[in-house]
Amino acid sequence: MERRKFIKNTSIGTAGIACGLGSIFIQSCTSTQRVQGSFQNNQLSIALSDLSDQTFVLTNHPNKEDEIALVNVENSWIALNTACTHKGCPTKKVGARFNCPCHGAEFSLSGKVLKGPANEDLISYKTAITEQELIIFLS
Ligand code: FES
Repeated sequence: MERRKFIKNTSIGTAGIACGLGSIFIQSCTSTQRVQGSFQNNQLSIALSDLSDQTFVLTNHPNKEDEIALVNVENSWIALNTACTHKGCPTKKVGARFNCPCHGAEFSLSGKVLKGPANEDLISYKTAITEQELIIFLS
């Protein structure tokens, strides 16, 4: 199994077990909201109704194994590829950061490098809002 896929699957499994056991004792253990969009002309469209009352959601990148994190900062959406810019491991949101489990890099919720060994920010995508959708421009 490819290293990235192994880490992604292991992280999801571990988080699920931790949440399952932790929720017995801690009520605040919640899973991240996932949304699906429609993909056309290199644009991923997410219904705004799926984002209401959310400040952080994940969606799948339509062309890669990566995930895209949608972070709402002061009423505007930032779209970030969660793949670490060091060696591509999937980062996970922990509090107000994205942490990389492979070599310890950390990124802010806007994708800025806070701690190496990564030295480039997470890839971000331009976004636009229409009446009913958040559009993410993937090129
Ligand atoms: Fe993320 Fe190395 S792959 S720190």
